Amino acid sequence: MFDVEKVRADFPILGEKVYGKRLVYLDNGATAQRPRRVVEKMVEYYYRYNSNVHRGVHFLSNRCTDANEEARELVRGFIHAASDKEIIFTRGTTESINLVAYSFGEAFIQPGDEILVTEMEHHANIVPWQMLCERKGAVLKVVPFLDNGELDWEAFGHLLTEKVKLVGVAYVSNVLGTVNPVGKIIERAHAVGAKVLVDAAQAIQHIPIDVQALDCDFLVFSGHKIYGPTGVGVLYGKECLLEQMPPWQGGGEMIKEVRFEKTTYNELPFKFEAGTPDFIGVIGLGEALKYVTDLGLREIAAYEHELFVYATERVKEIPGMRIFGEAASKSSVISFALGDIHHSDTGILLDKQGIAVRTGQLCAEPTMQHYGVTGMVRASLAMYNTREEIDILCEGLKKVANMFGMK
Ligand code: ALA
Repeated sequence: MFDVEKVRADFPILGEKVYGKRLVYLDNGATAQRPRRVVEKMVEYYYRYNSNVHRGVHFLSNRCTDANEEARELVRGFIHAASDKEIIFTRGTTESINLVAYSFGEAFIQPGDEILVTEMEHHANIVPWQMLCERKGAVLKVVPFLDNGELDWEAFGHLLTEKVKLVGVAYVSNVLGTVNPVGKIIERAHAVGAKVLVDAAQAIQHIPIDVQALDCDFLVFSGHKIYGPTGVGVLYGKECLLEQMPPWQGGGEMIKEVRFEKTTYNELPFKFEAGTPDFIGVIGLGEALKYVTDLGLREIAAYEHELFVYATERVKEIPGMRIFGEAASKSSVISFALGDIHHSDTGILLDKQGIAVRTGQLCAEPTMQHYGVTGMVRASLAMYNTREEIDILCEGLKKVANMFGMK
């Protein structure tokens, strides 16, 4: 049984007050909070073991190196990758996508080739591909979504031709909450010879993922959305592809031998990890994955689903409420507008009641343009949120509506 109160006790920040009011944190899509044991693990390493990885012969360096590699193994197991060589540590989702856009682009993209993304991507899964297309004379194509927030499957079928070399798709949309049918997308893409990058930034904390069962070519996520530290993330790539891709940053750790005439490169995964990594962040991420594994991601997912259904029903009851995205398969995110009230006003007035939500373009301007709005209000849930907090949100929204004279 998932015991939410026990989980909440692991997150000291949830006991904080803002403006003298109980904090209701509903901005988990932007960043989740960290449990005590993640912070304590990092503090322990800073205080007792800090020393650069893969470089030393001494005790401390070996200790950090081992812990760094243990974290890699934890990530491998968490997403069920075939090999540790397929797990590259980066600064986050954005850096992981940029790495693939550069390196896969260098190895595989020719003028006239196409990259296919969806209209609901956040900027990190749009802009690196645009940059690649500019560099290589390739073409970016976009699969639209329907007003209910589901991908336009018919358009996908038309756009997916043999010209497409890579499809980039969010597993879960950070605005609409849509859970995209990534398995089906991968199957279709592979049938025309295209590779697929799954952006799991908003999925990794909610949905058990098995990269081998999915058969995705690349999968990316950030540590801080799954209760780990900021500044660390993961790129999973199939070994056979990563082997063929050139390094994207040069410097220590990615080299084998350096000569002024010619430098040779290290083996996977180090070929893609130039410079001193945030190894203590990596160790913190490993601890976060252990924590989530101890709780059970399936139990977490079941609890979150039930909470999400409750939240959607309650929010919908509020007069003047417009929810963006009502896909049949949705997860954890409710983006909305309250009547004609500006999203910033709603956000600020909720904040004054201790309720933290995100407002604005949500790093996804094309999604805003789809609905012809300048921004939205977004409540994004995590495993430590409760029905009571949803009730506080709904009461808060009713107060905002009253202040603006809405009936
Ligand atoms: N892309 C992140 C969000 O949705 C930052 O808030």
